[in-house]
Amino acid sequence: MTLVAITREVSPSLERCELTHREQEPIDLALAMDQHRAYERALEALGCRLFRLPGSPDLPDCVFIEDIAVVLDEVAILTRPGAAARRPETPVVGATLETLRPLAEIREPGTLDGGDVLVAGRTLFVGLSTRTNGEGIEQLGRLAEPLGYRVQPAEVDACLHLKSAVTRIAERTLLIQPKWVDAALFEGWQLIKVAPSEPHAANALRVGHAVLYASAYPRTRARIEARGLRVLAVDQSELAKAEGGVTCCSLIFEGQRRRG
Ligand code: GLY
Repeated sequence: MTLVAITREVSPSLERCELTHREQEPIDLALAMDQHRAYERALEALGCRLFRLPGSPDLPDCVFIEDIAVVLDEVAILTRPGAAARRPETPVVGATLETLRPLAEIREPGTLDGGDVLVAGRTLFVGLSTRTNGEGIEQLGRLAEPLGYRVQPAEVDACLHLKSAVTRIAERTLLIQPKWVDAALFEGWQLIKVAPSEPHAANALRVGHAVLYASAYPRTRARIEARGLRVLAVDQSELAKAEGGVTCCSLIFEGQRRRG
């Protein structure tokens, strides 16, 4: 299995990014770029073939490419991000994805951020958040359900995206912050809760059999490793100030799929 990872450069205007739950604070742009390159190298070390898209001074949030598409085995769905300023991020991402998958898209009045879509086998848990609306979820259902997926809406509270609150870290295991999403939705899954002292620690990126994870959360990392999972830690101090996490900075999927 060849994994593809699509990333996008950090914008020189990162400091003008969207902020929902964080106060603005100074960002060291050079360090953010270095940290993002280290993240990309980690993806390559974990076996991903990297496609690196250019950033743009007009797109402060463009490094957070996860929000721009939902890539399934059968189709890549371009989103319509909930933050209007982020909608011009989609064309460049679409141009790359259409070489790898048939394309579909979320249309007005729907809004959907990829950070709200947790792909868990044939179930798509979708956050009802400040970025993703009911119409966006319904459109996703109309695109994905004929392909055999079940769409399960999930209300999120006090965080930006569903994947701020819960991510998949192994075949049947989720990492969760139960204060931000109802854990009862994930019946049948093994759940690892974040350490109480690390409320923001639920965002982890599964890459093959490993987990790419922010170095800021050692106590939760110990909980993950105690389950026998391999964790590779990266420092994301600067992108965290822009309300980004490890899942936000890439689109990862199996590369070899027949075009429809
Ligand atoms: N700054 C990340 C976002 O709000 O989309």
